[in-house]
Amino acid sequence: MRKKIVAGNWKMNKTVGEAVALVEGLKLELANVVGVEAVVCPPFTALKTVSDLIADTEIKLGSQNMSSEDDGAYTGEVSHGMLKELFVKYVILGHSERREYYKETDYWINKKVKKALEKNLRPIVCVGEKLEDREAGKTEAVVEAQVRGSLADITAEQFEDVVVAYEPVWAIGTGKTATAEQAQDVHKFIRGIIADMVGQEAADGLRIQYGGSMKPANAAELMSQPDIDGGLIGGAALDAASFAGIVNAGM
Ligand code: 13P
Repeated sequence: MRKKIVAGNWKMNKTVGEAVALVEGLKLELANVVGVEAVVCPPFTALKTVSDLIADTEIKLGSQNMSSEDDGAYTGEVSHGMLKELFVKYVILGHSERREYYKETDYWINKKVKKALEKNLRPIVCVGEKLEDREAGKTEAVVEAQVRGSLADITAEQFEDVVVAYEPVWAIGTGKTATAEQAQDVHKFIRGIIADMVGQEAADGLRIQYGGSMKPANAAELMSQPDIDGGLIGGAALDAASFAGIVNAGM
């Protein structure tokens, strides 16, 4: 049985003061959650504060990016060691906003994924097609290239620590959710690619999140699909009650 995982990607939102208020709310709202892993991914500037606040809870900490390098002259980057010191467990890698605005390629995402796994951080690896890809019938080709590229050379054993997030770009922040059926089709397709890459057992154990306008109102239907193992939440993760509503929908 794959344990569902619901992660809040706060993106470039929440000052430290605002993060404190949100986490205080989440601690109350998520106090009785069982059977679902809840993860919060604040901006780097709030990681330390959030880490301290959730230390005595079941809520896990994630970051939104990580350098592929260990240390040195990489202005603006943040290393695995800096994150681990703050008890970060998960790192979101290859988010579509990083692919689009910062030109991150599968090659670089793969380097980061390998570094994270080598250092015992769990990557949440994002893939997803744009609207033009879907309309041109290229969803599977685009997603397959991203999966094979960003997860190249990862062993079956390492896959135990990997989470994949399928986020159709056209559904992010638009209020347009993929239907449960559309999402399920792509999740099943992704699991098939992983089976081809590293075997059925690793594929069956892999958690695949859906992301893109997931809300309390649509979360239960999405997460009831056989290959949807949780959510990566943007806008709805910025409010304690709505994030908790999604986590609860996974129970
Ligand atoms: P929204 O939930 O705001 O659509 O964002 C999804 C997302 O990009 C999470 O990483």
